[in-house]
Amino acid sequence: MRSWALVTGASSGIGAAFAHQLAARGMNVVVVARSGARLEALAALLRERHGAEALVVVQDLARPGAAERVGAAVDAAGITVEVLVNNAGIGAFGRDTAIGADFGRDTAMVNVVAVVDLVKRFLPAMCERGSGAVVNVASMAGFQAQPYMALYAATKAFVVNYSLGLWAETRGTGVKVLAVCPGPVDTGFPIANGIKYDRRRLGWLLADPERIVRQSLRALDRDRGYVVPDARNWPEAHLMPRRPRKLMTLLIGLVLKRFADYQLK
Ligand SMILES: NC(=O)c1ccc[n+]([C@@H]2O[C@H](COP(=O)([O-])OP(=O)(O)OC[C@H]3O[C@@H](n4cnc5c(N)ncnc54)[C@H](OP(=O)(O)O)[C@@H]3O)[C@@H](O)[C@H]2O)c1
Repeated sequence: MRSWALVTGASSGIGAAFAHQLAARGMNVVVVARSGARLEALAALLRERHGAEALVVVQDLARPGAAERVGAAVDAAGITVEVLVNNAGIGAFGRDTAIGADFGRDTAMVNVVAVVDLVKRFLPAMCERGSGAVVNVASMAGFQAQPYMALYAATKAFVVNYSLGLWAETRGTGVKVLAVCPGPVDTGFPIANGIKYDRRRLGWLLADPERIVRQSLRALDRDRGYVVPDARNWPEAHLMPRRPRKLMTLLIGLVLKRFADYQLK
């Protein structure tokens, strides 16, 4: 019998790639996002290409109680979630004072609160069963304070550290936890979040989401705790000094300010 994965933010980008690759590995998939039509189209593809069952759950994870409603939909369908992929995420680029309060709150709700709520909803049962996995999609932005994407980076720092803490706590229980920390990936993220960039100049930096997910699932198989997919990101992730903290933050700010100014042109 096929077991079930649940993927948030499955309607595009990295989440859609997770849904496909988990289905290709023999799992059924609960797909969660706001765009019902895109989720239905994805569900049809999962059935057709991989012979998987798919359950569509349309939820806005920025709204309070969203994770409870996702849990209720899963319970009503009699599904046990074996793999939880917290992938949905948003984030703006620019000076924090220029980012509206509503978008700021939504960023915290989707990137942090929904992750916590879904972990609380599904991880205890995994630990009781002695099997299962939680994959939290963070970002390399979570390794270091980032001026001009201060809030986004801080939410991803939360995801990295929460995931690693859970990884340590669940070792030896049969449950795996992984933080995925990609660099730039070729998805709809910039458009969805109103970020401008020159694709002709920066396109080479972007990684293929399918490859990011393949490497992430390999890291999950090996219970690596966290993964920085795409070897090109290795030096920045592992060799760049993080101290002195203020100096490093100011230096990174100098680089990112150019990109922030570009957003205003
Ligand atoms: N792209 C990158 O360069 C990059 C780099 C590092 C990390 N990441 C992380 O990777 C994850 C996936 O992003 P992506 O690059 O694949 O971007 P994307 O193509 O914009 O996908 C984001 C997904 O999140 C869903 N989502 C957004 N707001 C939501 C809400 N309020 N409720 C429910 N679902 C919501 C979107 O679906 P709906 O709009 O249908 O709701 C979409 O399916 C994010 O956590 C992001 O921070 C991305």
